[in-house]
Amino acid sequence: MKITIIGTGYVGLVTGACLAELGNDVFCLDVDQSKVDILNNGGIPIHEPGLDDVVARNRAAGRLQFSTDVAASVAHGDVQFIAVGTPPDEDGSADLQYVLAAARNIGRHMDGFKVVVDKSTVPVGTADKVSAAIADELAKRGKNEGFSVVSNPEFLKEGAAVEDFMRPDRIVIGHDQTTEGLRAHALMKKLYAPFNRNHERTYWMDVRSAEFTKYSANAMLATRISFMNELANLADKVGADIEAVRHGIGSDPRIGHSFLYAGCGYGGSCFPKDVQALERTARDYDQDLLILRAVEQVNDFQKHVLGKKVVKRFGDDLSGKHFAVWGLAFKPNTDDMREASSRVLIGELVRRGATVAVYDPVAMKEAERVLKLDFADDAKLFDRISFAANPMAALGDADALAIVTEWKAFRSPDFDRVKAALKNPVIFDGRNLFEPQVMADIGIEYHGIGRSI
Ligand code: NAD
Ligand code: UGA
Repeated sequence: MKITIIGTGYVGLVTGACLAELGNDVFCLDVDQSKVDILNNGGIPIHEPGLDDVVARNRAAGRLQFSTDVAASVAHGDVQFIAVGTPPDEDGSADLQYVLAAARNIGRHMDGFKVVVDKSTVPVGTADKVSAAIADELAKRGKNEGFSVVSNPEFLKEGAAVEDFMRPDRIVIGHDQTTEGLRAHALMKKLYAPFNRNHERTYWMDVRSAEFTKYSANAMLATRISFMNELANLADKVGADIEAVRHGIGSDPRIGHSFLYAGCGYGGSCFPKDVQALERTARDYDQDLLILRAVEQVNDFQKHVLGKKVVKRFGDDLSGKHFAVWGLAFKPNTDDMREASSRVLIGELVRRGATVAVYDPVAMKEAERVLKLDFADDAKLFDRISFAANPMAALGDADALAIVTEWKAFRSPDFDRVKAALKNPVIFDGRNLFEPQVMADIGIEYHGIGRSI
């Protein structure tokens, strides 16, 4: 099938590359010329395991092309995926300007029937706005081309995006029951047929339910994490071990083991903004989503938990103190620094006068760029951060080590070397990588999350 992907970021690039891998002829459009240049020169603008191979293979086979040519992109695909960003607006709602700009471009150039797919995470009712924008542009041209807007939210996780896309738990598709909507259903069914070979994974529904499903899923996961974080903070006080509790409750199939890890808060480009956007939608309908407001508050608090533990141990004034930080990306296997907890911790440490040596296996360049922006109004704070070449190099003379991201490379360090390199053998572990008893046996003072047993 001929497919156009509008927006070649995390979701667009993964969707385009994976659909090409299945034999489709895919045209990826982006407004960012530098991104398109990187891709056309055989590079990848993001770190995502396995994606470079899929992109290279399909480019070489002529099934995947990248361009900034809007007219050509609209002409190419019978199915047009909108996968542009939906960042938070000032009031927390999803900013739809990129989605609607993409829709208008389709209306401006289309000839013949098109299925327009909202792949971006968009609030309930957006498909109607996309339809109206396309219809408006068609009317300006005096055209009456048929089209249908369907909702097909994406559930991939960064760091596992190719695997998640190729082996989805479920595919959610919302379409309407008009003649065009049924035609869209038939095309989407054909496109996703390879994913449904062994068993049916597609859930067909109306458009609004599909849009709502995406926010509900992210809000549910964010709620689970925040609830575990609150329990972990209480576990610290009552002398229970949240890791034991996690096993204890996760073994109940009604609860399950996934996404029950307490830590130093969730980050990324999605949970924070989607929780906010759903709250905003609720307010637009005169409903207060009390639980989600609490989820957000708990997460804001949790991003400060490591900083609070450091202050409790070393005092309010950290001048003259030096800390090592392992893990900067918002989660392992990505270089994405959006809403990363490391930014909150580093900000707190340097503002209190400390110096910091940081290390991340892949996010160093992006971290440097982002931290420079974080401290744009006080460059002296940025100067307190040094970027280490490897984990051990970050430890030299540090008063303590703080771990913020659970990269595999941090899971079994040589603890004797860690101990020898640190000025004080103290670890603040924001992802509960180590066992408190093992740390005690080695002689390392260990502060996990919810593990003060
Ligand atoms: P991104 O910022 O990485 O990429 C968006 C791309 O769209 C950018 O390259 C930008 O230049 C391009 N763009 C903007 N306007 C355009 C236009 N008019 N025409 C063509 N290109 C345009 O964003 P992302 O992380 O891929 O997220 C995209 C959407 O998918 C968001 O709504 C997000 O919530 C959702 N989502 C993201 C993830 C994820 O893991 N990142 C997972 C599921 C859903
Ligand atoms: C999340 C969802 O998991 C995806 O299904 C969804 O498609 C995506 O958002 C989106 O809409 O963009 P992602 O943000 O890539 O994916 O990463 P997650 O693995 O969900 O982690 C998000 C954050 O939660 C990370 O900071 C992670 O450290 C934290 N987390 C996750 C926890 O603190 N505890 C857990 O048990 C799990």
